Amino acid sequence: MDQNILRYHSKEVLKEALSHDNYTLGVFYKQKLIAFIMLQYYDALNMDRNLLKNTEDCKYSEIYTIYLILVKKEYRGHGLQRKMLELIENNKQNIIINAKVSPQNSYSLDNFLACGYKILTEMKMYGGFNRLIVYKPIN
Ligand SMILES: CC(C)(COP(=O)(O)OP(=O)(O)OC[C@H]1O[C@@H](n2cnc3c(N)ncnc32)[C@H](O)[C@@H]1OP(=O)(O)O)[C@@H](O)C(=O)NCCC(=O)NCCS
Repeated sequence: MDQNILRYHSKEVLKEALSHDNYTLGVFYKQKLIAFIMLQYYDALNMDRNLLKNTEDCKYSEIYTIYLILVKKEYRGHGLQRKMLELIENNKQNIIINAKVSPQNSYSLDNFLACGYKILTEMKMYGGFNRLIVYKPIN
C-alpha cells in the first residue's frame, strides 16, 4: 500500500494495537471477516486534546482515535465504511472521535466528510506523510 495513502501495518503492529484496543467492530460475511474498524482511547490523546483546545469542541470528556478502518478489496463499494462509522456512534456519548486521513485517500475522506466529520488541520505524520485530522463530536 502506498504510504501516502495508508501507513504500513505489520501483523505484529496490528496485534499490539489490538491488545490495547478499546473497541473493535468487525463485519462478517459467510463467517469471514470482510471489514473492521478499530477505535483506541489511549494513543494520541494528548496531541488531540491540544489540537482541539481552541475549538468549541474541547468540552468533550473523552477522545477516541480511529486507529484503522479497512474493507477487504473485493467488498468495497457497498458503503461499509460509512455503515461502520455510523455503528460506532450508537454505543458512545459525549466523546470526540477523530481519525488521520491522507488527503489523497479520497474514498475514505469523502466518507468521513459525508458522515459529518470536520477537518481540523493537516500535519506531517509517520515520517513525513501528509495527514488530515478529521473529527466529530458525538452527543
Ligand atoms: C477507504 C475504504 C475503507 C472505503 O471502502 P468502502 O466503504 O467500500 O467505500 P465505498 O463503499 O464508499 O465506495 C465508494 C466508491 O469507491 C470505490 N472504492 C472504494 N475504495 C476503493 C479503492 N480502495 N480502490 C478503488 N475503488 C474503491 C467503490 O467501488 C465505490 O465506487 P462506486 O461508487 O463507483 O461503486 C476502503 O477503500 C479501504 O479499506 N481502503 C484501504 C484502507 C484505507 O484506506 N482505510 C482508510 C484509512 S483513513
